Amino acid sequence: MAASLVESGEDAFRKVFKFYKRRNPPPDFSNVLDFSKGEGSNKVVPLKLDPATVSDAEAARVGLRPVRDWTAFELRGYPGFIFIPDPFVLGSQAFWVRQCLKTYPRKPNVCNLDMHMSPSDTQDIWDRSVPDLRLPSSGKRRPDTLLERLRWVTLGYHYNWDTKTYCADRRTPFPADLHQLSRHVTAACGFPGFDAEAGILNYYRPDSSLGIHVDESELDHSRPLLSFSFGQSAIFLLGGLCRRDPPTAMYMHSGDLMLMSGQSRLLHHAVPRILPAPRGHASSGMESSSRVSSPGDGSVVETPSQEDWEACVGYIRSSRVNVTVRQVLAPGQTFPGASSSHRGTDVGRTGGNHDEDGECGKRKRSRDSET
Ligand code: OGA
Ligand code: MN
Repeated sequence: MAASLVESGEDAFRKVFKFYKRRNPPPDFSNVLDFSKGEGSNKVVPLKLDPATVSDAEAARVGLRPVRDWTAFELRGYPGFIFIPDPFVLGSQAFWVRQCLKTYPRKPNVCNLDMHMSPSDTQDIWDRSVPDLRLPSSGKRRPDTLLERLRWVTLGYHYNWDTKTYCADRRTPFPADLHQLSRHVTAACGFPGFDAEAGILNYYRPDSSLGIHVDESELDHSRPLLSFSFGQSAIFLLGGLCRRDPPTAMYMHSGDLMLMSGQSRLLHHAVPRILPAPRGHASSGMESSSRVSSPGDGSVVETPSQEDWEACVGYIRSSRVNVTVRQVLAPGQTFPGASSSHRGTDVGRTGGNHDEDGECGKRKRSRDSET
């Protein structure tokens, strides 16, 4: 990338965002870190995880490989940021993809389509989309299915996009399977006792993006923010506490997981671009022939039916799903009357394609007076 783009300065983040979002001419991707290739850059530092934190059986139940077999990395200059390229057992991503597409969008969870459709119309997003999703891809473009119009789903404490808050009275049960997965992943990263209380699923079409933002609506920032990606790849930009700080670009491929904790918990970040998954990522690693059978008693992960899986493939061959899992409250903490917080423009509220005019230090502005 041109040096001028990475210099710190007035909204350097926005410049980099636009650089990677650009279609014509396509940007140079050579500076994008690819953790799946290991230590390709001196910014990437291997991280040793303690394999005793999660037993092999616990990991297997949620579709994860034994922790000792994971690779984990930190990023120089971003303490608390952890990147784990695809720690899933071959084939088990299929289950999580099916959950994200079929199960989590169901009531009582909340989604963008609820804002302008009747409850009866958003009742069976999956069933109404399956027939078209299962059609073999012909070069011709078919109308988007309802599922392909899904932009976000919220779980647990449902995020209020207008007030940018969570509150006690907008809460439904957090999915037990995703809670368990999140608990094991965070434990492996050194955060035992993580309580998944809120989830935001973002659904990306090839032209979607997610604007520059900080996730600070959670009341307890000592707990990490966890992110899982499935399907097509993305460029993720990780910036600083301020929008003036130029971000680092990295690929997120299917199955990759990241954790923002400690000093990295409140950093600006964004997704300027969705990219086709490289060979060996996304659905190719999840094909029915390589899917796992039930790894044993108490397993959370099960093999999706052939019909479900065909519909999932029809969706993820062009789309990406990202799941962020958040602990909102510290143990014993309760909601005050209201909270001031900010979250940037979201892919869901605008149907994607959006980079917002955020300002440097929004978080500071709402809490401190220095900006
Ligand atoms: C979010 C978020 C990143 C992604 O939902 O807050 O930052 O990779 N998602 O989609
Ligand atoms: Mn975020």
